[in-house]
Amino acid sequence: MIRPLHWTLIASFMVFVFGPSCSSSSESSQNQNPRLAPAQPNRTSELAQAMRDIDVELQSVMAVLSAGEEATDFRLTEHDFSKLQPTDSTMLVVGFQALSIAFSSHVSNFNRTPSKETYMAVVGGCVSCHQKACPGPLERIAKRRLPDALD
Ligand code: HEC
Repeated sequence: MIRPLHWTLIASFMVFVFGPSCSSSSESSQNQNPRLAPAQPNRTSELAQAMRDIDVELQSVMAVLSAGEEATDFRLTEHDFSKLQPTDSTMLVVGFQALSIAFSSHVSNFNRTPSKETYMAVVGGCVSCHQKACPGPLERIAKRRLPDALD
């Protein structure tokens, strides 16, 4: 038997886990007014899942590069973001397609020549699109920059 209090806790947990992807990270939104729970919590969209996956890949590459090692054996998955379903269509801002194409070319350059420079160009591609389409994760993306990068 699940009593009503438990449902409240479960509902708050769902809002935390499935909250809008483009809002700021949970660390910085803790002090803001609580948001109303959506009637139907969103499931992770194809686009959001691809973002999470490539973010994990970036973290592995970054670990190697910041240890001063070569990333020669690393490849990033070549997603076509413009073909993936977003959480909602407001995310497909004007220029989204062009930003996706630019991003894909950074990824293929990295895959051809994995290096600090091509890695940083990929991170730059994340930032360019997020400044327009989805500012929430920018803080997290900033952590993927290499501290001693030359750009
Ligand atoms: C062409 C535009 C574009 C590029 C390039 C891009 N993003 Fe995104 N990103 C988005 C959009 C739009 C969303 C919201 C997706 C959704 O909720 O459906 C998003 C969502 C995210 C999220 C939140 C996913 C979640 O948990 O809901 C993270 C983290 C993220 N992106 C990281 C990255 C990283 C890291 C890169 C570079 C490797 C990157 N993004 C490149 C547009 C972009």
